[in-house]
Amino acid sequence: MKRNGKAESISSDRRAFIKTAALCGGAISLAGIPLAGYFISPALKKGTGKWVDFGVAEDLTPGSIEMLSYEFMVKDGWQVLPQRGFVWAKTEAAGNIQIFSSTCTHLACNVIWREDEKIFECPCHSGRFDINGRPLAGPPTRPLSVLEHKIEDENLLVYLTF
Ligand code: FES
Repeated sequence: MKRNGKAESISSDRRAFIKTAALCGGAISLAGIPLAGYFISPALKKGTGKWVDFGVAEDLTPGSIEMLSYEFMVKDGWQVLPQRGFVWAKTEAAGNIQIFSSTCTHLACNVIWREDEKIFECPCHSGRFDINGRPLAGPPTRPLSVLEHKIEDENLLVYLTF
């Protein structure tokens, strides 16, 4: 069977077009993978942490529990957002320091130190923790997190994750 010239020309043009499109698609894909990674990776980054300076460690009062506030900027994906909060510093009479997270282990509200009862209390569901962060009452079953800290050049540094 004989084909006419016009049909062959259209068929040949179609093949050329498909071949060109496939090559262009491949090239775009190859170039696009690193480009897509560049744009997507910040959004996929896992939480990280940093050492936060809370000032001169000797300013803490022995035998007390004190609220230490912080605020710093954090890059979250493509945004830079303020990170604010506080931790609880327990300073024993001998000067030993323990830093508790203020995050309740039930549903992450902030716990408050109640000096009158010597407990940490969570206002959300009345969770209570003793002076060592152990759960006493309410829904929390896990103790408050104890945060890593160190003294550097007389300053108290606490490792915070976010
Ligand atoms: S969040 Fe603290 S008791 Fe529920």
